[in-house]
Amino acid sequence: MDSILVKGGGALSGQIAIAGAKNACLTLMPATLLSEEPLTLTNAPRLSDIRTMTELLRSLGAEVTSLQDGQVIAMSSHAIDNHKADYDIVRKMRASILVLGPMLARDGHAVVSLPGGCAIGARPVDLHLKALEAMGAELELRDGYVHAKAAKGLRGGVVDFDFASVGATENALMAATLAKGTTVLNNAAREPEIVDLANCLRAMGAQIDGDGTPTITIQGVDRLHGATHRVVTDRIELGTYMLAPAICGGEVELLGGRIDLIAAFCEKLDAAGIDVSETPQGLRVKRRGDRIRAVDVTTAPFPGFPTDLQAQMMALLCTADGTSVLEEKIFENRFMHAPELMRMGARIEVHGGHATVTGVDKLKGAPVMATDLRASVSLILAGLAAQGETLVSRVYHLDRGYEHVVAKLRGVGANIERIHGT
Ligand code: EPZ
Repeated sequence: MDSILVKGGGALSGQIAIAGAKNACLTLMPATLLSEEPLTLTNAPRLSDIRTMTELLRSLGAEVTSLQDGQVIAMSSHAIDNHKADYDIVRKMRASILVLGPMLARDGHAVVSLPGGCAIGARPVDLHLKALEAMGAELELRDGYVHAKAAKGLRGGVVDFDFASVGATENALMAATLAKGTTVLNNAAREPEIVDLANCLRAMGAQIDGDGTPTITIQGVDRLHGATHRVVTDRIELGTYMLAPAICGGEVELLGGRIDLIAAFCEKLDAAGIDVSETPQGLRVKRRGDRIRAVDVTTAPFPGFPTDLQAQMMALLCTADGTSVLEEKIFENRFMHAPELMRMGARIEVHGGHATVTGVDKLKGAPVMATDLRASVSLILAGLAAQGETLVSRVYHLDRGYEHVVAKLRGVGANIERIHGT
């Protein structure tokens, strides 16, 4: 297994290009199943999760071709000959559940492995299943698989989400595009990735209103046609790299960055003493003074503070002037980066969904272990400003969501290298 060695250093300067959004691409790719005509995605990120989704779609019979070094994904689903998503693929990536709605809408039947939990939580899919049942699907859970049928096709229905689930909204939205009649999704997720999916589906001929608000209305159509769609900027990669100059000092421009994707996050950066300004090519980030101010953070569905930036924000607050309280309201076990940061000298107390961080002057480099995707990058951020060397192991977690992280950080002056494991 590979590791990443970070040597704490000085201020950073230069530009980092932000890639297309992993969490948009992972729902845009299954949309190919809704049409027999080609769907092409541009600005796609080069990540292991995208390769896993490619493997899954190919196992169903879709043609998926990666072009231009992975930045273009050309798909065609005219010959779907398998409607079963096997556990051995689904267990590698939970987003695999997003083939359920499209397959059911297209052919009236699907068998998809339950994804199982992951490091950050149990990650149930009950809201996905409830939404599809509201559209007339008959579901049976057997041997760890969801057996779904809609012999007469899906019909429009009203879906009331108990929680604004991103994945459940995406599954229901895709399924509703081909359902007979009108579907209304209440308490729908409002993330930019939902809007990006709706834009792509509209380009394919779907009739969708209200995406980006809590109520989405879909008028089903008989069929969807092909399209070409550019994947939206990755707001989580953007926020992650904005924290590099915030933690180390200096000034970095994030190419492709958009404030509207991360407004709540930018408000917290401003309160902590970080200047974010818009430039013709994206966003410029610069720390105002020598010390970050402590701020309190509570994660929430969009447009609130993103849970996917909580671990990275904690790394920043470890050396803030004062005490910060971080409240994780989305996942039940998303503080696994805390014990690793404490190995670097951070002062953190975790009680259930709350973490209290008391700022110290400097962190000290240490060997630490990545436990999940966003925790792994928070350890790299901490290592950038720590005294000495930090060796982050199990970086396969990182490869799921961050393309070329070493090259991007070296490009702005960070002392970081990848060490290939035995
Ligand atoms: C998406 O996961 C993202 N993944 C996650 O990003 C992100 O953290 C999450 O949304 C929240 O923003 C992708 O888009 C591939 P949810 P998802 O359904 O759809 C509970 C990353 O680091 N829930 O909004 O799984 C669930 O247990 C990943 O890139 C149910 O109880 O998130 C969780 O506590 C991590 N029943 C909460 O809702 C359900 O049927 C949020 O889940 C579905 C979800």
